[in-house]
Amino acid sequence: MNIIQTKNTAFRNKIIDLYIESFSKGLSAQYIDNIELEKYINRFFEEGEILISLSNNELSGALLYCPLENDDLFPAEIRNNFDIKKSAYIAEIMVGEQFRGKGIGTQLINAFFNTIDKNTFSDAFIRVWDKNTQALSLYEKAGFKNVASICQEKKKPDGIGTFEMKKIYLHKKIN
Ligand SMILES: CC(C)(COP(=O)(O)OP(=O)(O)OC[C@H]1O[C@@H](n2cnc3c(N)ncnc32)[C@H](O)[C@@H]1OP(=O)(O)O)[C@@H](O)C(=O)NCCC(=O)NCCS
Repeated sequence: MNIIQTKNTAFRNKIIDLYIESFSKGLSAQYIDNIELEKYINRFFEEGEILISLSNNELSGALLYCPLENDDLFPAEIRNNFDIKKSAYIAEIMVGEQFRGKGIGTQLINAFFNTIDKNTFSDAFIRVWDKNTQALSLYEKAGFKNVASICQEKKKPDGIGTFEMKKIYLHKKIN
């Protein structure tokens, strides 16, 4: 397995497929609008950074990040307590189902801290559903600490009706 930082659009559709696989089923399943998703993923090619893991040349995981200012949901307590202009936001981290539990998520986070431009960013944030215990324990092991929370309204997988998710913002200093 190796991790690379890339803006190669040849990976775009594979990243979109990985997103759909990660967030359209299971406990956190939600409605995914394919056109909106494509626009969303394109933003990381334009204004963010992308780390991907390749296992035998196959895309096995991805971590997408951008300036925290691109996230329109972070609450005031983060703005009041941190230097927003120097904050990075890990917007997505996802590992293909068949590759989970092998340390790839941990290695993507390590690669993030090893490659991020430390002149631009001093703080890292991540947002996670409070019931996503796998992701929470991954971030806590990586040294992230809970600093704020929000309630987010999401569309149910069938697109009819909504449900609420409590999301936690976690923070770690970039050294
Ligand atoms: C969360 C996710 C990225 C973890 O990736 P991963 O490559 O499986 O993680 P790792 O193998 O590096 O495991 C790191 C830690 O996560 C936790 N973890 C991973 N799989 C777990 C499982 N099935 N059950 C409980 N904890 C688990 C453990 O604490 C693990 O540490 P350990 O191996 O020392 O016990 C992956 O499960 C995923 O893509 N999930 C769907 C997308 C998602 O929810 N992303 C996060 C949104 S905020």
